Amino acid sequence: MLGSLVFLGAELLLNPFFPSLPGDCGPLPNLSRAEPPEDVRHRDSFPVGFEVTYRCLQNFSKIPSRLDTIVCFSNSLWSNLLEFCDRSCQSPPHVAFAKLSEEDEMKNFYAVGITVHYDCSPGYENSTDVLPTSTCRENSTWSEVPELCRKQSCGPPTNPEHGTVVATDHLFLARAEVVCDEG
Ligand SMILES: *[C@@H]1O[C@H](CO)[C@@H](O)[C@H](O)[C@H]1NC(C)=O
Ligand SMILES: *[C@@H]1O[C@H](CO)[C@@H](O)[C@H](O)[C@H]1NC(C)=O
Ligand SMILES: *[C@@H]1O[C@H](CO)[C@@H](O)[C@H](O)[C@H]1NC(C)=O
Ligand SMILES: *[C@@H]1O[C@H](CO)[C@@H](O)[C@H](O)[C@H]1NC(C)=O
Repeated sequence: MLGSLVFLGAELLLNPFFPSLPGDCGPLPNLSRAEPPEDVRHRDSFPVGFEVTYRCLQNFSKIPSRLDTIVCFSNSLWSNLLEFCDRSCQSPPHVAFAKLSEEDEMKNFYAVGITVHYDCSPGYENSTDVLPTSTCRENSTWSEVPELCRKQSCGPPTNPEHGTVVATDHLFLARAEVVCDEG
């Protein structure tokens, strides 16, 4: 019974020959970076409680912490919707010589313009006071991570008794061979 009354109400509200009744929301608000679904985009009137979920326009992604849905309140107003889309980059680049800082690793959204910081990977050390960074550029790609960390040195290997160590270098991950003396 209640269901059919609600249904009749909705019918009246959708009928263009009936003026808007109190508790009835008008056209959907316009957002500059998102749009409502095609099937409701051009509707003039919506019943109280009606929810509409917007979608980000091309090249924009949803900011995880923001709402993307509005609801028609009984005062005939749509709930507020903040701009919830921004241009962004995927996860920052992985490089062997450095690892993303813990703080930047925890983020789930990398907006255009953001700069992430790296620390040198284990086995590597900063060669200058400057640590590597990367920035999410206008075209949603990361800038190259400058190679500011160099392999740590183990120092020259010492020859064992009755043998010689043969190594091209003594930096992190280098391998050395030991050649035994004749006999
Ligand atoms: C949204 O934009 C369209 C087209 O630009 C316009 O017809 C409509 O009235 C706008 N809606 C609101 C609520 O401002
Ligand atoms: C989306 O980004 C691509 C690559 O940067 C660009 O070619 C395209 O024109 C953009 N589309 C819109 C709708 O801005
Ligand atoms: C590496 O960075 C630290 C901290 O910024 C600094 O104290 C140290 O001097 C740097 N090492 C070199 C070789 O510049
Ligand atoms: C993105 O922009 C940078 C700097 O403007 C450029 O070097 C790079 O080639 C661009 N990448 C793509 C995929 O367009």
